[in-house]
This record gives sequence, structure tokens and C-alpha cells, in this order.
Amino acid sequence: MDTRTQLSRLGLFDAKVPRYTSYPTAPHFSNAVTPGHFASWIDAVPENGTVSLYLHVPFCRRLCWFCACRTQGTATLAPVEAYVETLKAELDLLKRHLPRGVKLSRLHWGGGTPTLLSPDLMRALIDKVHEVADFADNAEFSVEIDPNELDGERLDVLAAGGMNRASIGVQDFDEEIQQTIGRPQGYDVTREAVEMIRERGVHSLNADILYGLPHQTRSRITETVQKLLSFAPDRVALYGYAHVPWMAKRQQMIPSEALPTPSERLDLFDTARRLFVWDGYAEIGIDHFAAPDDGLAIAQKTGRLRRNFQGYTDDTSEVLIGLGASSISKFPQGYAQNAPSTGVYTGAIREGRFATAKGHAFSGEDTLRARMIEMLMCDFRIRSSELMRDHGISESALTAMFKRVNTAFEGLMEITEDGLFVPEEARPLTRMIARHFDAYDLSKAGHSSAV
Ligand SMILES: C[S@@+](CC[C@H](N)C(=O)[O-])C[C@H]1O[C@@H](n2cnc3c(N)ncnc32)[C@H](O)[C@@H]1O
Ligand code: SF4
Repeated sequence: MDTRTQLSRLGLFDAKVPRYTSYPTAPHFSNAVTPGHFASWIDAVPENGTVSLYLHVPFCRRLCWFCACRTQGTATLAPVEAYVETLKAELDLLKRHLPRGVKLSRLHWGGGTPTLLSPDLMRALIDKVHEVADFADNAEFSVEIDPNELDGERLDVLAAGGMNRASIGVQDFDEEIQQTIGRPQGYDVTREAVEMIRERGVHSLNADILYGLPHQTRSRITETVQKLLSFAPDRVALYGYAHVPWMAKRQQMIPSEALPTPSERLDLFDTARRLFVWDGYAEIGIDHFAAPDDGLAIAQKTGRLRRNFQGYTDDTSEVLIGLGASSISKFPQGYAQNAPSTGVYTGAIREGRFATAKGHAFSGEDTLRARMIEMLMCDFRIRSSELMRDHGISESALTAMFKRVNTAFEGLMEITEDGLFVPEEARPLTRMIARHFDAYDLSKAGHSSAV
């Protein structure tokens, strides 16, 4: 039997599974985690330690139909100015709680479209961040950039503020696809953005592209990847387009009959994947590619690749603090998420308290299972020795778990004394395999296609 038939029989083309950027996943968060927990978890960060900081900007000048991010369209700067004031007030609150000497190993601005901030707003936000904490040595400051929403002045401010990693949204270069997904973006606009970024010495460039888009074919994705490769990006995120029009209402503009089938999605992914690999990129986890000298490729080689809400990272900080509406923070004690509504978030911060609305405090086997799933998503293997050392689980308990999962996947995996390994032909199943290590009831959550 060929692999494709086996993958199909194992349910790959029907399954809906989480992307596991956290464990447990966000639908399992509850209001048991309060602003008080969030404050006490920040208080507990070790003095002189490092944290990562994520600032969320949920505004866009244009609202692309395909986009599943929670973001608000705005034609004027007024709501953005008010929001940045709130973010600054939240940073002041953070400063009051953060122990002495803590530095930032990572600063990430995401959205939405952070580059719709005016240069003055950007400068004010950067200054406020520096009042809270300095950058650690080798810190990274990365910003998500819509190439349509960019100019030299704003890039000057970001580069002067220390931005050393830029992430641009490309999605696809094909004009018909761009029209169908409501995201027009000429090749020249993207090329100019890349040139402006590089001219400012920003040493690392990431680009997001999508497979599984309406009207996408092998030849079209080949052309998109080749155009992208002409920019020599340091990293590429090749995300599967998640079509969830019941959640992201704008996606109702996209004709579902133009979407590829799950089997075609696998072909599209594989076509793009081969092109990146031929060009010398390392495959990073399930959907990223990195140049051999990029931090992600090095982290993968040395077993230090991690996964968080922003995807794959080589950041080793135990604490990620997310500020802004809907942002999620991660601590050794658990997750805390801010109120998703900008109004509720703003109300809380203006009253001088944190805006935590829900979260999850780790208990029982949570951290063990979280690490198993993270290892699978990062390295396609679960190393028994690390789990036995850090989580006190016995070898026999692990082996029993691995055997049960391997049986469910018709013996496709390799089990040795080192642990469990997912060979290349079974890798499309990785999120489904991870699901087997997930102890929570996934039936209520609306997840995306397993391919
Ligand atoms: C916050 S957006 C990117 C930044 C910037 N606003 C832009 O549009 O260029 C982050 C990324 O999420 C991805 N994304 C958005 N909607 C998606 C969907 N429905 N399925 C998969 N990926 C999606 C896109 O690749 C997008 O570049
Ligand atoms: S893709 Fe970017 S610009 Fe388009 S709606 Fe989403 S966040 Fe905004």
C-alpha cells in the first residue's frame, strides 16, 4: 500500500486538530486565572533573569478576507493612539511588578499590523519598553510587517530602536489568488519592502506564505516560492490556510469551491517544501524553513528548538509576557490571557489593574504532556531521558504510552530505548500524533485541518 493511501486511512484528510502552540490549547483556558495570578507570576520571575515580551497591535488599515487574526479595521490613527496609551499604561503596571535586573531576551510586535503606528507612536512605545527593561545581550527585536503598510521613516525608527528581525506577510504572489483572498500586493511592493529592510542593516528577514489557498496549483505555488527565494529570506513560515468562515466572518467572501482538497493541500505543501529543501533550507518543525546559519536551524541541530504562541523559536526564556488585548503570557506556573475585547482590556488597564480574563494554571501531568507535544512538534521525537529526568516519569510508563500511540498509527513510528521517533513518511501526521498525548477533551474546540 502506498503512503498516501495509508495516511488517508489513518484519517489525515478528515481530521481537525490543534496547532499546539500551547498545551493545553487556548479553548481550555478558564476564568480561574485572574489578574492576581498574573501579577504574582510576574513577581516570581527571578531577579536578573530574562523574559520575552510580546506587544499586540490589533489594528489594520485593510482587512484581508483570508485573515483569521482578531484585528480591527481603522482608517484613522485616533483609535491606535488611544490603544498605544493603554499599552504604555500596561507597561507601567508591568514595571511595578517586574523584579530587579530583569532583561528582555526577545521583544516582538505582532498583530494585526504594528507598522500602522506613526513614527512618533513607535518611538514612544520603544522608549516605554526601555523604561521597563533593557535588552539582554544578543536580544532580538522582531516586528510583523505588512509590506503595504510601510515607509522609510517608520523603518528608520524601528531600526534605530533595535529591530534586528523583520517578518513580512506575503501569502502568495499570484494575482488571481490575491484577488480571491482579498489581499492585493504587487511583487514590486514586496520587493521594495525587502530592500528597505535590508538597507537598514536588519540582519534577519522572515516571510509568511500560505498553502491551501483558493485556485492554488502546484505550478502557482512553485512560482510563488521561486519569487520568494529571489529575496533569500532567512526564514519562511509556510502555513496551511485555515478556512474557518464560521469564526472569521470575512472568509465568507472566499468561494469554498475554489479551495484545494485535503489531498491537494498535501501536494501543495510538499511541492513548496521540496523547493526550500533543494535551495538548502533546513526544515524546521511542521511548517518553517530556515537558512543553515539562521538561529532556528542552529537551535534545531542542537536540540534547543522551542514552540510558543508565535510559532517556532530559539528563545530559551521560561517567561513570555504578552501585553495588549487578547495577548497570552506563559510562565512556569501556567498561561494567562488578556481580555480579547479592546474595550474590556482598555477599561481594566485604565483602572490600574491587569486585564487578565482567563488562563490555565499547570497541574497534574500538564507540564509533562506539554513537553512531549513540544518535542514532537519541534524534533519529531520524544526523548525519554529528558522526561524521566525533569518529570519523574518511569521508563516503563513512557514505553507503554508510546506503544499505545504506535498501535493507533499502524506501527508507523519507531520506538527505541531513546524514545519515540516519527520517520519522514509519517510526519504529515505529527499534529494527530501530538493529539494522542493531549489529555483534554478536544471535541468542543473548532480546530483546523490536519493537513
Ligand atoms: C498578523 S499577520 C501578518 C502581519 C501583517 N498584518 C501582514 O498582513 O503582512 C500574521 C500571519 O498570519 C497568517 N494567517 C492569517 N490568517 C491565516 C489563516 N486563515 N490561515 C493561516 N494563516 C493565516 C498569515 O500568513 C499572516 O502573514
Ligand atoms: S493579513 Fe495582516 S493586514 Fe491582512 S487583515 Fe490580517 S493582520 Fe491585517
